[in-house]
Amino acid sequence: MEPNVFNQIANQYDTAERIQLARRILEKLNPTLSLGTKKTLLDFGCGTGLLGIPLTEHYQEVIFVDDSTVMLEVLQSKIKANGIQNANTMATGDFTGSKVLPVDEILLSLVLLHIPDTEKILRFLYDLLKPGGKLFVVDFDKNQKVSHPKVHNGFNQKDLQELFIKIGFRKVSSSTILEEKKVFMNEDASLFLLVAEK
Ligand SMILES: C[S@@+](CC[C@H](N)C(=O)[O-])C[C@H]1O[C@@H](n2cnc3c(N)ncnc32)[C@H](O)[C@@H]1O
Repeated sequence: MEPNVFNQIANQYDTAERIQLARRILEKLNPTLSLGTKKTLLDFGCGTGLLGIPLTEHYQEVIFVDDSTVMLEVLQSKIKANGIQNANTMATGDFTGSKVLPVDEILLSLVLLHIPDTEKILRFLYDLLKPGGKLFVVDFDKNQKVSHPKVHNGFNQKDLQELFIKIGFRKVSSSTILEEKKVFMNEDASLFLLVAEK
């Protein structure tokens, strides 16, 4: 089996640049989330929790799920250090069938580009949402300067919106939220936020 690249970088993941980017994403994301309500949030592909940890203040429970066990270890040490009581961490393989499901909202930040079969993962996440629940996707706009065998070079927002509708989401909207220097495989890139309601 190939080594998990995120296991290898997990302990060095929280660079000043990534922390700054997460802050800027949160500023754009926060007004669209159901903050301050008694809702559950699934942070899928949570990494070290740069987005999900600040969001624990605003949700009844945040469920952190990731493929990388080392990312989850880094996250767990932050949860412990901050005395966070409403966080639940799980490896991807362990959480289906969990009693925490279905959830009110799902966050997928900078994860979709790493998953080869876009439709399959979106259908999987659709099934984890309550009726009326929302999926928030933050990712890169399509970028012809980027080419990597294991990573999508961003997404066309219109194509992605059509895919969400095909899957069954009732309302879908998206817009470009940030333009950043050298952020996507060292290339300048823009990021979008897509919000889809089940
Ligand atoms: C670029 S990081 C983003 C982390 C975090 N969401 C953020 O915005 O800071 C991508 C994360 O997605 C996780 N990931 C990739 N493929 C996944 C999958 N199929 N299931 C769950 N997690 C996955 C990786 O392990 C990694 O932690």
